[in-house]
Amino acid sequence: MDMRAAPDAELVDLQPGRDRIVDDAVAGLSATPKRLPSKYFYDARGSMLFEQITRQPEYYLTGTESALLQRRMPDIAAAIGARVHVVEYGSGSGRKTETLLAGLDDAVAYTPIEISRAALLDSVARLEGRFPRIEMLPVCADFTHPVALPSPRRAPRRTLAFFPGSTLGNFVEDEAVQLLRAMRDTIGEDGLALIGIDLDKDPATIEAAYNDAAGVTAAFTLNLLARLNREIGSDFDLDQFRHRAHYSRERGRIETWLVSRRAQRVRVDGHVFDFAAGEAMQVEYSHKYTDAGFAAIAARAGLAPAAAWNDAADWYGLRLLRRMDAG
Ligand code: TRP
Repeated sequence: MDMRAAPDAELVDLQPGRDRIVDDAVAGLSATPKRLPSKYFYDARGSMLFEQITRQPEYYLTGTESALLQRRMPDIAAAIGARVHVVEYGSGSGRKTETLLAGLDDAVAYTPIEISRAALLDSVARLEGRFPRIEMLPVCADFTHPVALPSPRRAPRRTLAFFPGSTLGNFVEDEAVQLLRAMRDTIGEDGLALIGIDLDKDPATIEAAYNDAAGVTAAFTLNLLARLNREIGSDFDLDQFRHRAHYSRERGRIETWLVSRRAQRVRVDGHVFDFAAGEAMQVEYSHKYTDAGFAAIAARAGLAPAAAWNDAADWYGLRLLRRMDAG
């Protein structure tokens, strides 16, 4: 008899359906300026292209964060303590997760919350093999909506929210605060949050990261239109839009746009949207933080820095947050 255990990762599947994608797309295209929600970047091809972005020489974020996490893992593990339930927001391929789970003292369970089912299943299959003692409790969902946390079989001592990749920066301040507040509720009174933030720096360095020479980021942003065409039947002409990413010093953020190459009309689920030649549709912000700016956002969510680690050049930071009301 084959005694190999069946994969015990039972998936909680709350992947957004067509109706929600249509509603989000129509609402965004009806706004001025037009925008599309960036969470829909991550279909199977989008997640694959994003993995490729993380390997582009200009995209310093992933490499810097991974090296920082690896180098500081002993300190991070000591600050977090033993037997935690790790909850990761937007886990993607789960590469950094391996460093975290390997470095923590006896982690009890791991709950990745990821909108791309393909990326989620791949990463959990890999992590299960590498960490047989850690219970895998994956949730396929849009983490900006409330998600009930699965309960591990073995009682954890605390919950750790893990939010790397400077994904927090993809939200404007009010949304970021809302997200951190939800995280604060999720982790409970003794919980902690480990958050990766890209730090403010020379604009040319930042801009290059979002305009890689190989054109992978451009392919990634345009894939959003291909995905919508396939899944909700819109008729975006991919050849008639181009990627533009610009750093706004004033706002401290990269603004990524899809620019219409000519006057054109797009149909989405019975709605009609007209684009002027050169009209820019907003698809993503990537905020870059100062220490004061980040601490202010955390404070609005009732969280305070308990520890901070930066790389040697102060390009990127990891922040450990605790609840202001914790004992
Ligand atoms: N969190 C990543 C970032 O802001 C996501 C990202 C990387 C991204 N490159 C992108 C989003 C290009 C949109 C477009 O860096």
